[in-house]
Amino acid sequence: MRKRVFSGIQPTGNGHLHIGNLVGALRNWVAMQDDYECIYCVVDLHAMTVPYDPDTFRQARINTAKSLLAVGIDPARSLLYYQSQVPQHAELSWILSTITSIGQLERMTQYKEKQDKAGQNLGLLAYPVLMAADILLHKVHYVPVGDDQTQHLELTRDLVERFNSRFGEEFPLPERITPEIGARVMSLQDPTSKMSKSDPNPASYILLVDEPDVIRRKVRSAVTDSERYVAYDWEKKPGISNLLELMAFFTGRSIDDLVETYHDSGYAAFKDAVAEAIVEGLTPIRQTFKALDDDEVARVLQKGALDARQRAEQEMISVRKKVGLSAS
Ligand code: TYM
Repeated sequence: MRKRVFSGIQPTGNGHLHIGNLVGALRNWVAMQDDYECIYCVVDLHAMTVPYDPDTFRQARINTAKSLLAVGIDPARSLLYYQSQVPQHAELSWILSTITSIGQLERMTQYKEKQDKAGQNLGLLAYPVLMAADILLHKVHYVPVGDDQTQHLELTRDLVERFNSRFGEEFPLPERITPEIGARVMSLQDPTSKMSKSDPNPASYILLVDEPDVIRRKVRSAVTDSERYVAYDWEKKPGISNLLELMAFFTGRSIDDLVETYHDSGYAAFKDAVAEAIVEGLTPIRQTFKALDDDEVARVLQKGALDARQRAEQEMISVRKKVGLSAS
C-alpha cells in the first residue's frame, strides 16, 4: 500500500495564494502525487478564526481551490475538497480537544501573533487541534508544509502519543516534509519576517496571479542592503538571500551557481533576473487559473468531498469505538 499524504491551505482574504505557499509547500504537494496517496484540503473552517466577510469568503474558497488546480494538483490522482464539507474533521477535533492541554495551545506562536488582530476567540485557540484532526482523520504518514507549521505538527505528534497510549494504537506518527531551500520565504519589504498574505503592504508578497509588470515592480522594490555584491548569507544579507532562494526555486539552479553568476552583476541586474525567473514560472499558473471555470471547480471539489466523507466515516468508526462512543 502507498503511504498517505495530507496537507491543507487556508482561503485567507480573497483566497489568492503567494509564492511563499508555492515554494514552501505546494511544490511538494504536487511532487508527492507521483509516489503517494495524496489528500489535499482547502481548510475553510480554519480561515474563519480571523475576522472575515462571508461574501468575500465564498469567492475566496473558490480562488484557493482554483489555485491548487492551477499549480498542478490533479483531482484524478489526489483527493481535493473543502474541509467544511467533511464534518468528521470537526467531530475528531472535538474528541482530540478533550486530551489537549490549554497551556500548550496558549504557547503556540501563531496564536500569540494572531490574537491581537483576531481577538481571543475560542476557535483561534483551538485552531491547532482542528489541524491535528485534519491530519489524523486520514491516518497519514507525511505532511508537506512550510517551516511555520512546525509547532503545529509537534502538537499533532503529541496528541497521537497521548491518544494511542490512553485509548489504544490508532494513529500513525505523522512526519513533516519541508523543502531544504525555501521552507520560509520572507517578506520582500522586510526580509526578517515571513511573507504573509495578511501583511497590509501588497509589495511584500507576490501572488500566483500577479501580472508580469506587477511582479517586476515588486521585485525591483524588494528591500536588500547597502553592499554591492550578491552573496548567500542570511545573517548579513537576508534580502539578497531570500531572492537567491526564490531564483533557485524558479530556475532549478543551485545557490552556488547563482552566486557565481551574479556576484558582481550589481543588485539591479540581479533583481531583473530574479523577476524574469518568477514571471516565467508563474505565467502558466496564472493562465491556467484564468481558464478554469468556477462551476466546474465546484463540481470537482464536491466529488472530492463525497469520497473524503466515505473514507473519513470509515476511519471514525474505529476512533468512536476506541473512545467508547459505539455500542460494541
Ligand atoms: P497556510 O494557509 O498559512 O499556508 C499554506 C502552506 O503554505 C506554507 N507557507 C509558507 N511557506 C514558506 N514561506 C512562507 N512565507 C509561507 N507562508 C505559508 C505554510 O507552511 C503551509 O504549509 N495551519 C495551516 C493550514 C492547515 C494545515 C492542516 C496544514 C490546516 N490544517 C493540516 C497541514 C495539515 C496554515 O495556516 O497554512
